Parts: sequence; C-alpha cells; structure tokens
Amino acid sequence: MKIFNQISADDFFQNYWHKKPLVIRNAIPNFVSPLDPNELAGLACEEEIESRLILEMGGKKPWEVTSGPLSEETLEKLPETNWSLAVQGVDRLIPDVSKLLTHFRFLPNWLLDDVMVSYAPDKGSVGAHIDNYDVFILQAQGKRRWLLGGKPEYNEKYQEGLDIRLLEMFEPELEWELNSGDILYIPTRFAHHGIAIGECLNYSIGFRAPTDSELIRSFSNWAMENEKTENFFSQSNISLQQSSSEITQDSINQLAEHMKSFIDSPDFKQWFGKHITEPKTFLPPPEEDLCLTTKQLEQKLKLGEVLVPAAGLKCSWIDSEEPMLFIEGEKIEVPTNVSSEILAFICDSNEITIENISNFNKSSENILQLLTLIYNKGYFVFEEEL
Ligand code: SIN
Ligand code: CO
Repeated sequence: MKIFNQISADDFFQNYWHKKPLVIRNAIPNFVSPLDPNELAGLACEEEIESRLILEMGGKKPWEVTSGPLSEETLEKLPETNWSLAVQGVDRLIPDVSKLLTHFRFLPNWLLDDVMVSYAPDKGSVGAHIDNYDVFILQAQGKRRWLLGGKPEYNEKYQEGLDIRLLEMFEPELEWELNSGDILYIPTRFAHHGIAIGECLNYSIGFRAPTDSELIRSFSNWAMENEKTENFFSQSNISLQQSSSEITQDSINQLAEHMKSFIDSPDFKQWFGKHITEPKTFLPPPEEDLCLTTKQLEQKLKLGEVLVPAAGLKCSWIDSEEPMLFIEGEKIEVPTNVSSEILAFICDSNEITIENISNFNKSSENILQLLTLIYNKGYFVFEEEL
C-alpha cells in the first residue's frame, strides 16, 4: 500500500513516523479546500468552537494571543501582515473536512486528535515552537515556508513573558516551501516555524500521544466508577521477617503483581476503547421523533439512501471473544452474529449502502439492527440529512 500514492507504508513507518520530517509533494492532487478564509473567520466567532488569533506585531505585546470566540470588530481591525488565525476540531464541524481524513487511514483512527485549520496573511506565523504530537500539515491554499530543526529536542528553553511557548533559540536545519496540495509531516518534538508567503490556508491533521497522567487518571476514574476497586491486597504467603518494620522486596513484587492484575483483566480493553474514542465535545443528540425502526432504516437504504458517519465521528473496535464497538466514548451493545469483520466495515466505511450490507448475507439483519441503534444515537446519518 502506498501512502498518498508516493511512499510505501513500510518505508514511512520505518524511516519517518516519529523519526524524521517528510515532505510529500502533491499529496492530494487538485485539492480544493472545503472552506475558505471567510468561513474560517466565521467559525472563530462562534461560541463553543475553540479558536485563537496570534498577532505577532500590532497587539498590546508581541505575539499577543486572543482566544475565541472573536468579535467581528477584532477581525476587522487586523493588520495587513504577521498574524495567524486557527480553529480547532474542524473535522467535527464540516463533513467534507472529515472526509479528508480517509487519506490518513494508514494510521490507527484512534490516534487522531483533530483537524486544525489556520489562515495567515503574508508573513503570518505562530512563531518557532515544538509540539508534543505528530502532525501532517496540508497546504490548502497559497504557499508557506517551513523551517525545521534536524532532530527532536527535549531540553529547549522558551522566551519569557509571552502568551505562547516560543523557542528562545531556533537553529533550523531544514527548509521547504509548500504549495497547495503538498503535505509536510512533522514528528513530535521537532522544532518548526512556518511562515506564510502571501495569504495561506493550512490544515493540520494532528495525532496524539496521551500522557501517562491522562491515562492513569482516566483509568482510575473508570475503575472507581465501575466499582472495580473493591478487591483487597492480601498477602497470603508471608514469612517471618528479621525486622517487622521492613517493607520487603518480596512484598513490593507481590503488590506490583496485584496492581498489574488491573490491566490484565478484560475490563482494561473496555476502559481503553471508551477512553480513546471519547470526543472533546459531544455530538448533539438526535431529535426523538427522527428515530427510526430497523424496518424504516432498511426501507430508506433500499430506496438508495446512503448512511455516512457524523462528521469527525470517533469510532473504533477491539477484537475479543465478543468483539467490542466503541463510539464517542460509549461501548455499544453489539447484537450476536456481528463479527469483528462487520465492526471493521462499519467503522472504516465512509458510506454504507444496502449493497455493502447484503455482502454479509447471513448477518444483514443484525447489521441493520446495529445500524439502527447507532443511527438513533446520531452517530450515523443519511447523506441527504447533512
Ligand atoms: C499553523 O498552521 O498555523 C502552524 C501549525 C504549526 O506550526 O503547528
Ligand atoms: Co506546530
């Protein structure tokens, strides 16, 4: 399989992923941005959409950051150059941006964080910085010059007194100019600085690396809520100690084994599936009178309607004796006879038609039942409803 029709997946994973930046020229030929800078500015004015404006010069201080929602007045007063406007989570707002993610199916979908779209006029940038995640930056319109460090950095220093974390020192070793349709892959912790050449629009497809503290907090919350913590740590095999006040290495080993039993249990998969598909913001629940019965859903599909996932849907599955389906932080009740192959089909499909369902002949009824359940939760919609 070739990624963006240019580089083999093996080559990418062995030589670039987490290791080295890569430019993929014309990765998405004839790419047309589903949204333009004005629409982006409109999103930045909305409540509940995360956005920020970075003004390198002309604000109250250098690199002034204003978090959204932005006012029209702020946008109207912007200088000609040297600023940048970014909106997070655009994949959950615009279905066509969500579709763009099909190009990134060579990576596990649950590693995806979100799509950030940014606009900058000439010389606009967010300064030289380091991110704690891997990102693919698609040049959607215009051009941008990228300067990058040659290796990951771990002991960097930041400039003091700024609203954002900008590097005190940046010695770029790599330089590229990106044109519309090109993609730059930046591995985690490679310093970078992208400067607009004329007006430009970028899509940053960010992949996450959850921190240990995030994982431990989430797992312990889940275990407490689900009463998985009612067992006792009781040492059945103890022996006489020379000093009764010593906590022996043997006790520590037994405790470690006991703690490990939490993660060895099948429940561990369940926690992770829920945790990793949990969205930052939840989808609006569907209106109750729009709910369908399985028959009605089947009827619509038979009339040629097509089911598609809601924009930016977080949907993954885990193989197990009874395969598990997780959508938007929820473990979905899966009817019997629904194999992991079917769950893969549902989670990986951009479109579900009656023909694809009938390919699974014996299980079609169960698939329709499952699709009705997830349709009624608002996780899938008919394309015409978009
Ligand atoms: C941008 O698109 O504004 C820059 C993204 C980045 O440097 O991470
Ligand atoms: Co960055």
